[in-house]
Amino acid sequence: MKLLFTKNYCYLTLCLVLFLSGCTLPKPIKGAVVSAREEASAIGVAIMKQGGTAFDAMIATDLALTVCYPNAGNISGGGFFMYRTAAGEVGSLDYREKAPLGASSDMYLDKEGNIVPNKSTLGGLAVGVPGTVAGLVAIHKKFGTLAWEDLVQPAIDLAREGYLVTEKQQRSFESKKETFIALNGPDTLYAQGFQAGDRVQNTALAETLERIAMFGKAGFYEGPVADDLVERVRETGGIITHEDLLAYEPVWRDPINFQYKELNIYSMGPPSSGGICLGQILKMIEPYDVGQYEHNSVEAMQVIVEAERRSYADRSLYLGDPDFIQIPKDSLLDVDYLNERMNSFTFEKATKSTDIAPGTIQWEESEETTHYSIVDPMGNAVAVTTTLNGSYGSKVFVEKGGYFLNNEMDDFSSKPGVPNMFGLIGGKANAIAPQKRMLSAMTPTLVERNGKLAMVVGTPGGSTIITSVLQTILNVYEFEMDVQSAVSAARFHHQWLPDVVVFEPGRFDPALIKSLQDKDYNIKEEYSRIIGRVDAIQISDSGEITTGADPRGDDTAVPLF
Ligand code: DON
Repeated sequence: MKLLFTKNYCYLTLCLVLFLSGCTLPKPIKGAVVSAREEASAIGVAIMKQGGTAFDAMIATDLALTVCYPNAGNISGGGFFMYRTAAGEVGSLDYREKAPLGASSDMYLDKEGNIVPNKSTLGGLAVGVPGTVAGLVAIHKKFGTLAWEDLVQPAIDLAREGYLVTEKQQRSFESKKETFIALNGPDTLYAQGFQAGDRVQNTALAETLERIAMFGKAGFYEGPVADDLVERVRETGGIITHEDLLAYEPVWRDPINFQYKELNIYSMGPPSSGGICLGQILKMIEPYDVGQYEHNSVEAMQVIVEAERRSYADRSLYLGDPDFIQIPKDSLLDVDYLNERMNSFTFEKATKSTDIAPGTIQWEESEETTHYSIVDPMGNAVAVTTTLNGSYGSKVFVEKGGYFLNNEMDDFSSKPGVPNMFGLIGGKANAIAPQKRMLSAMTPTLVERNGKLAMVVGTPGGSTIITSVLQTILNVYEFEMDVQSAVSAARFHHQWLPDVVVFEPGRFDPALIKSLQDKDYNIKEEYSRIIGRVDAIQISDSGEITTGADPRGDDTAVPLF
C-alpha cells in the first residue's frame, strides 16, 4: 500500500514536471520481446508491428536466434514453449529432442560398464533427434496469424546479410575454436577467428531456412536438409537415421500449476523437471515467509538452499519422460509431503545431502541454452526455453546446412548415480531408451496474480535454471524489486549433489559467506559456470509492462510502443 502510494505520487510529480516543461509523457509499453540478442528481440517486435501476435513473434525470434546466437539458438535442438492467451488459456508444447531408435541404455559405457568420457557430449553419438522445427511448425499451426514464410524470412535475411559479433561472442568462439576444428576441420565457419564487430554471413543456413520457409516441417525432416544432417551425424559417429527424423512429433502437454501465496504459477511439466521442482521449492519455502528476512541474508538463503537440496534429490529419483515412466506428480507437490521434507531443517546447521540421499560426485562446467519472453499488445504471452544443451551442442557443425547439432543425449542418466555435465545424477527414471525424451531442467514460467498475467520468466543455465527462475520470482514478490533489479541481482545455487552452495563470485559479502560456513555449508565462490541468464517481463496490476534483460549476457529487451 505504502509502495503503491509512493509510486503514484512519483508518477503525478513526473506528470507535473513534464507538463510545466512542455514535454510529453513517455509512451506506455504495449508489448516486448526480451531475448539473448538485440537482433532477435527487434525482429520479434517488428513482427508485432506488422500486426503479428506473440506467437508469430516467437517463431521469428526463435529462428533469428538460430542465426545470431549459434551456441544455443537452434533449428537442430529442442525446447519447451509455455503460453497464455489473452483470454487466459494456458498450455505448453514439448518439442524436446528424443533418443534415436538405435539408442540403448548402455550406449555411453565401455565393456566394464564405465562411462566413456565425452561420448555423450562431443560428436555425432551425442546428438538427440531434433524437435525445434517440428515445434515451431506446430505452434504456427495452432496460433499463427501471419504467413509461415513471412515469419521465417527475417532470419533468412539476417543469415544472408550477416550479424555483428559481440565481445562476449568473440571470447566464446575463441574458447571453442580447437574443438570446432577437431570435429569439423580448419575451414569450418566458426573457426575463422571472428572478432568483435565482424559480420558473420551464413549462406548455408540461409538456404536451409529457405527450405524450411517453403516446406515447413518437411523442409527440415525430409529432403536435402535431412540427408545432410543424417550424413553428418553418421560421419561423426552417430546413429540418427531418416526414420528417426520422420518419426519426430512434438507433444502438447498440461503445464504444472501450483499456488505460491497469492501467485498462481504455471511452468513446464515432465520431461522437464522445471515445473515440479520450482513448485516443490516454492511450497517448501512458503511457510517460512522469506520476505521477512533481507534479500540474500543468511536466513533467507538457508531456507532456499535447504528446499533446493530436497527437491533436487527427488528430481534424481522420480523424474523422466512421462511417456515412459509413471511420475508421482501430485505426491511430489503435496503440501504435507513437502512440509515433512523440511522437518529435518533447522537454522542452526546445514542438513547434509548425504542425509537426504547418498552420493559423492564431481561437477564440471558447461553452458548454453537460451530463453526468451514475449508479450503482445493483445495480452498474449509466451515463454520459451530452447537449447543445444552444451555451448554449440555436440560441436558438430553441419557445414552444408550452416548449423550446429545438439548434444542433448547427455541429459539422460548414462549410468545410475554418475553425474552428467551439470553434475546432475539420475537413475532408471531417466535411463536411455529408444524414442525417449531426456530429462530437462528448463523452466519457462508464467505467473498470474489476481487472475491476471503478472510475469513471464525463464533462463538457461542447466541445473541452475530452476534456482535462477526461483530467485527472480522471489526477488520480485518477496523482496519487492523491480524486474530488472530482480534479474540482475546476485544469485546462488544448490542442487543436492554435490553438496555445495555455488555463489556468483565477488558479489556476496565475505561476512555472509563466513556465517554460512560456520553453519557447515560448503561454499564454492570461484567462477564455475553461469547461474542463469534470465529474461523476464513483468506486468503490474494496472497493466504496466516492464522488462528485465540479464546483463550477464548480451540479452536485450526491445519494447513495443
Ligand atoms: O534441458 C536441460 O536442462 C539442459 N539441456 C539445459 C542446458 C543449459 O541450460 C545450458 N545452458 N547454460
